[in-house]
Amino acid sequence: MHAITIRESGDPDVLEYTELADPTPGAGEVLLDVAASGVNRADLMQRQGLYPPPEGASPLLGLECSGTISELGPGVTEWQVGDEVCALLAGGGYAERVVVPAVQLLPIPGEVALPAAAALPEVACTVWSNVVMGARLTAGETLLVHGGAGGIGTHAIQVGKALGVTVAVTAGSDERLDQCRQLGADILINYREQDFVAVINERAGGADVILDNIGAKYLDRNIDALATGGRLAIIGMQGCAKGELNIAKLLGKRGSVAAAGLRGRPEAEKGTIVRAVREQLWPLVEGGSVQPIVAEVMPLAQAADAHRALDQSRIFGKILLSAAKS
Ligand SMILES: NC(=O)c1ccc[n+]([C@@H]2O[C@H](COP(=O)([O-])OP(=O)(O)OC[C@H]3O[C@@H](n4cnc5c(N)ncnc54)[C@H](OP(=O)(O)O)[C@@H]3O)[C@@H](O)[C@H]2O)c1
Repeated sequence: MHAITIRESGDPDVLEYTELADPTPGAGEVLLDVAASGVNRADLMQRQGLYPPPEGASPLLGLECSGTISELGPGVTEWQVGDEVCALLAGGGYAERVVVPAVQLLPIPGEVALPAAAALPEVACTVWSNVVMGARLTAGETLLVHGGAGGIGTHAIQVGKALGVTVAVTAGSDERLDQCRQLGADILINYREQDFVAVINERAGGADVILDNIGAKYLDRNIDALATGGRLAIIGMQGCAKGELNIAKLLGKRGSVAAAGLRGRPEAEKGTIVRAVREQLWPLVEGGSVQPIVAEVMPLAQAADAHRALDQSRIFGKILLSAAKS
């Protein structure tokens, strides 16, 4: 099979389109012929040597994909060869074939095309596990999504609207904010020009839930932006890892701070999240209120160009790599 390998840690040019042996599914796993795979910000960090794969995971990039099951490992009974699926991966998606634990498979929801479904597993599992299962976002509340125009952000906007909440977003330009508005965002904040704390407090009396990709740099201001009883869900460290938490402010608001990664979780926990996504979020996708937002599809061999595009914030939503033979 063809796959993208990393020659050495570095800039996008270190990505190489290479011929590798096909992987073999073990017990409880399936082999997928990949249709497309999603590109995530974490892939850029892994390429730079800043985000090593968890123990036992494929060393290849790629945290999600869609495709067709071509082989079943021992003990897999709930899927068939020929089933079209999408999958949450711990790695290995930047390839023509990938092995996946069966518990991390999802059916293609509704009318979504097979390649486009590759844009869903990582954002769906991240947003659902942090915002709904963790922070218990409820109809009538206000959700603040930092980075509303990104892969995670565009999905979180739709989930928030489908759940009946007011959605506020931050983004780096008015053009990107306008795209967020078209997806349903209610409160638009240009983080280069406006103070998100002032805007969210004035427009909504604070946020009940904040989905944060920035980490330390926003920690204190995020606490200031929380409503009483608010929940801060940190999923990224684009603004560094170490910050100072003002417990007095948090205590006064009876707030909470949680931080969770998806990739390193045990398979059983991922299975629980995938099951919740299938049961509760997939009906929203089937009903059309949540859709994959695909900005661009590039051939797998052009993975380096995809990384450059994501790095330059040129992508609204997701960028996919197609493994289809041309
Ligand atoms: N914990 C987990 O399990 C998990 C899972 C998936 C992703 N993540 C994390 O979630 C984050 C988003 O991932 P992604 O794949 O959606 O990446 P992405 O598409 O590249 O989006 C990154 C976003 O960050 C925004 N941003 C940059 N600087 C900002 C600032 N100062 N204030 C607010 N927003 C800012 C960008 O906004 P503009 O482009 O508008 O400037 C962009 O929308 C990443 O940090 C990733 O590592 C975590």
